[in-house]
Amino acid sequence: MNAGAERVIGFDRDPSVFQPLASLKEQFGDKINFVNDRFSNMAAHVAHVDGVVLDLGVSSMQLDEAERGFSFMNNGPLDMRMGQEGPSAADLVNQSAEKEIADILYLFGEERASRRIARRIVEARQKQAIHTTFDLVDIIKAVLPAQKKGQAHPATRSFQALRIAVNNEYDELFEGLHAAEKILKAGGLLMVVSFHSIEDRMVKRFFQHRAGRLGGNNRFLPEAEQEAPQFEIVTRKPIAADEKELAVNPRARSALLRVARRTAAQTTAALSAKDMGMPKLGALKYA
Ligand SMILES: C[S@@+](CC[C@H](N)C(=O)[O-])C[C@H]1O[C@@H](n2cnc3c(N)ncnc32)[C@H](O)[C@@H]1O
Repeated sequence: MNAGAERVIGFDRDPSVFQPLASLKEQFGDKINFVNDRFSNMAAHVAHVDGVVLDLGVSSMQLDEAERGFSFMNNGPLDMRMGQEGPSAADLVNQSAEKEIADILYLFGEERASRRIARRIVEARQKQAIHTTFDLVDIIKAVLPAQKKGQAHPATRSFQALRIAVNNEYDELFEGLHAAEKILKAGGLLMVVSFHSIEDRMVKRFFQHRAGRLGGNNRFLPEAEQEAPQFEIVTRKPIAADEKELAVNPRARSALLRVARRTAAQTTAALSAKDMGMPKLGALKYA
């Protein structure tokens, strides 16, 4: 609102985030509204907007609450559900086939020791179900070398991968970008803040395809028959937080912002997962 928007609609799939926002509602009244839904559903709630901001991933609030099970630094139930619905991370590690766990760790977390960790998870759960974040951290630590100074915690990639699988985050991003394209007015801005390389690649590819820079347009067709691009890329390179911002918000270190402007061209068929460089698992089957 402070940036000049006349009306703001905030989406979050996590019902617990809205309570602390009551003061914003008091301050801005009807100019601000909150919707407890996934952003892939945004077109069911709004049409014709001037801007869409997708601030992806997990929030500090979620990370810091041990009870939510997102953090390998705090012991808590191995949950990781943002929306508090569907199977939890504990369900996934206790019930999925070994190969599926390995695929999740490899494809969603780029964990190179995925097969060894998956095997150790299955061995461990045969003795005792895996209930807590620290149960899982201990299993991962038994497989990977100890953390050296300056290196990421050994559980970083596995926790990221499980969180993405539990919350279907890549499907959400895929659908969310296409939904934003539908509801943005010509001239409206799509702004996406991503937190790791796979997310950033998906956003970049979506923008490139929709701006006609990646195979979307057939250079052998006469110009009049080429599909008009749906977006114009505003940020050639993604924008990272500067030192000043990092000093007050160190968790912004891996954040990247990409922006594109909607044109007046009609929306066409959705891209494929392959076009977007999106890792795809087969449908998850419990063992
Ligand atoms: C990085 S945080 C956003 C923080 C917020 N912009 C702020 O400044 O406090 C990401 C938030 O997005 C929510 N979220 C993640 N994926 C979502 C989705 N597919 N649909 C709706 N909300 C989602 C999470 O529950 C989390 O609260």
